[in-house]
Amino acid sequence: MTVLVTGGAGFIGSNFIYYELEHYPQDRVICLDKLTYAGNLNSLKKALENDRFRFEKVDICDREAVEAVFAQEHPDIVVNFAAESHVDRSVEDPGIFLRTNILGTQTMMDASRKYQVKRYHQVSTDEVYGDLPLDRPDLFFREDTPIHTSSPYSASKAGADLLVLAYHRTFGLPVSITRCSNNYGPYHFPEKLIPLMITRALADQSLPVYGTGENVRDWLYVEDHCAAIDLVMRKGREGEIYNVGGHNERTNLDVVKTVLKELGKPESLITYVKDRPGHDRRYAIDPTKIHEELGWLPKTRFDDGIHATVQWYLQNESWWKDILAGDYQNYYEHMYGKREKA
Ligand code: NAD
Ligand code: TYD
Repeated sequence: MTVLVTGGAGFIGSNFIYYELEHYPQDRVICLDKLTYAGNLNSLKKALENDRFRFEKVDICDREAVEAVFAQEHPDIVVNFAAESHVDRSVEDPGIFLRTNILGTQTMMDASRKYQVKRYHQVSTDEVYGDLPLDRPDLFFREDTPIHTSSPYSASKAGADLLVLAYHRTFGLPVSITRCSNNYGPYHFPEKLIPLMITRALADQSLPVYGTGENVRDWLYVEDHCAAIDLVMRKGREGEIYNVGGHNERTNLDVVKTVLKELGKPESLITYVKDRPGHDRRYAIDPTKIHEELGWLPKTRFDDGIHATVQWYLQNESWWKDILAGDYQNYYEHMYGKREKA
């Protein structure tokens, strides 16, 4: 099998590439990534040593470049992770979110149709369902919960999901979608809550908690998400949506305090800052469908996952320090610059 992964130099995509290379020793994995600020080829260093792996610096909106790779590789499965993914950035500049997240999805599906892939899998998010009230712990997102988005990010992801389902219905493209809750783990870009708090706390800097810190997220260790995507793209039913989450709801404040405890740093580092506009209150996934149909269950408990994540950041200081210094963006030039010019 040849699996084509977009956005594989990002957080979840890079973890997924390692998951595939490890679990499927016969498969080839091709990564297309534009290497935006969130893409980091350093994250794929070990994969680049594997001759079953190929990296191409490609914008998923660039039809010609995308099709050239399809023509060479004839992928069996396409998994689309590539996206602008940070809510705060979508508040500042929505345009790029619409371009990459919606038009990029269209380009990837058009190529998938033309080259008759066996499965096009869209990596989506629970944020398409909007939010839940804090005082209704009985409510959860199910696959039939109406789409009700809050941010330009979630609206662009919802737009893409609708387009994916339309390509299934109209053109018969064999699609599937997973909608996952918040992930954490290795290679997580330090603008997102958990890695931001780890890296700032290590430098004894203040930890900016939005509003009162009472917003709730449903955290899942990234490897559990990778296992879920892998199951759905290989065994899930065509045209179906599967919610992915591990019933692990925490307030932001609770998460930040857990990180501080793990690092042995004081809670006095916490600083309450102005709230995010339109801030979603609570996300909570009902994962019954993927459990009952495909037998998926998360393997990593939150305390173990946080411990492993903090250890990873301690042991891979150069990975995130390069990001903070901006050096990671030179890595592609260093690795591929000559080849590109040849
Ligand atoms: P990320 O921001 O860490 O990585 C995104 C990757 O996509 C980067 O490598 C970037 O270079 C690449 N990219 C961006 N625009 C591109 C373009 N036009 N062409 C090619 N590549 C491009 O994101 P992430 O957190 O790994 O999320 C991956 C996917 O999972 C996204 O689709 C996101 O919506 C979804 N998701 C994320 C979470 C989460 O908690 N992080 C949860 C649920 C779903
Ligand atoms: P984030 O990691 O940006 O993920 P998402 O917005 O997609 O859920 O944020 C997770 C939660 O943490 C969210 O409720 C916003 C909050 N947050 C802070 O309180 N401070 C911060 O500096 C950041 C980045 C997020």
